[in-house]
Amino acid sequence: MHIEIHRKAEISLSQQIYLSIVDHIRSGLLQEGTKLPSVRDLSKQLGVSLVTVVKAYNKLEQEDFITSVQGKGTFVNAEKKEEVDTGQKILDFDWQLSVQDYLSRAQFARFHHIPGEIQLSSSMIDPGLLPNQYLGQEIRQLLSENPRMLSQYGEIQGDLQLRNAMTEYLKIFGVPAAPDNLLITNGSQQGIDLIARTFVGPGDVVVMEAPTYPGAIDVFRGRGATILSVPVDKNGMRVDILQNLCDKYKPKIIYTMPTFHNPTGIVMSAKRRRQVLDIAESIQSIIIEDDPWSEIYFEKKPPASIKSIDHYGHVIYLKGLSKTLAPSCRIGILAASGSIFNRLLAAKANADLGSPLLTQKLILLFIKSKRMTDHMKKLRTALKIRRDLVLELLSQHSPSGVTWVTPEGGLNLWISLPSWINTNHILVEAKKQQITFLPGSACYPVEQENHQLRLSYSYMNEQLLRQGATALCSIFRSEISSTTAHDNSPYF
Ligand SMILES: Cc1ncc(COP(=O)(O)O)c(C=O)c1O
Repeated sequence: MHIEIHRKAEISLSQQIYLSIVDHIRSGLLQEGTKLPSVRDLSKQLGVSLVTVVKAYNKLEQEDFITSVQGKGTFVNAEKKEEVDTGQKILDFDWQLSVQDYLSRAQFARFHHIPGEIQLSSSMIDPGLLPNQYLGQEIRQLLSENPRMLSQYGEIQGDLQLRNAMTEYLKIFGVPAAPDNLLITNGSQQGIDLIARTFVGPGDVVVMEAPTYPGAIDVFRGRGATILSVPVDKNGMRVDILQNLCDKYKPKIIYTMPTFHNPTGIVMSAKRRRQVLDIAESIQSIIIEDDPWSEIYFEKKPPASIKSIDHYGHVIYLKGLSKTLAPSCRIGILAASGSIFNRLLAAKANADLGSPLLTQKLILLFIKSKRMTDHMKKLRTALKIRRDLVLELLSQHSPSGVTWVTPEGGLNLWISLPSWINTNHILVEAKKQQITFLPGSACYPVEQENHQLRLSYSYMNEQLLRQGATALCSIFRSEISSTTAHDNSPYF
């Protein structure tokens, strides 16, 4: 079990140990029944006092994550999902646990789709709205015309024709990139990972929005970064707080999703985009601008990307095509310049020697055709209908105390419950009815908040969306009415 300790961090050492073990448990890296190191061993391993470890273990025990058994040791508890699970094997302590790893957290590894579930947890688009049929035909055609494609490596940087086409496509977002400044990645997730591998080492400071995209937290934590978080308001990342943090800690990286932020759906105003860039320029930081779905706007077009106003190469822009086109093709585009770009290209070579040529050629056909524009138009219309449906259901059925942010685009809706309600607990109840959502706690990189959740309205058809959202409202109602602000929920 790898626990990264930062002595200069804002939060206490015991809190860091606590959070790290919570992350390991929630990520499935520490499974039910696993024996934790003794207080003495862990304090020695981490170079902290016994009291620090005792404090962390006490908090974990109070919150029902672990149990100490007199004379035997401390063990990871079953999660509260137990009631709906098929039951997992209890692991004995084994030699594998003593093999040192460098993973802090991989919460996405836990999100499995079980057929039949009403999946409101998945920030993906209903397969019925994606061009599977067309892509299926084209892939057959591609292979029959050029089967030799399978016997070649593509360019490490990505297929030149695709980079040419993406140069044109990115103009829509104001991204001024030449084909030489584009790198094709295996989804944006690889873009984030390549940046982290290249520029983030233990103790380097990374600033993220709070809440933020859990997959990015996993990556930065995995590099041992010290993560600082900046809350978002209706105009995006709070730049006053960002400025203070930057003055004090000079972060190396600022990770942001300015357009239809995941999970809140918020759009960063044009003014804030400018301010965030000014701050990054003043302290010579890198901004990662992650843009998986700015094509999906329901009212007005969002402001131009931060990359569009970046004249000195501070912004690494990531455009994912998974969400809007074909997740299984694993195509993302990274736009950067100068020596930052060259180093990322080297990291890509080390990682995988280039993305699969076949899926690049496939996406190229789609991007170049008029289908792309028509497809995005269709998605905007279909997803607006689903968003409106959920908003209407929430207005009709949710109990008082439940609030939400109305997204002007993207795939997600961020819902807040009264502060004493724990949405991890609500998820246990929802799963009994075969409904899933993303609990808000997964989205906080530093201090976790438990009373929110992300509902994705993009994956289920309208009938299932209706069924799921209505049932969730009634779970909210019974949870709120059965607890009071003074209850201390035993669930995490
Ligand atoms: C904000 C954000 N960035 C990146 C990703 C990774 O997407 P992919 O690697 O499929 O492009 C996701 C996936 O959910 C996301 O929500």
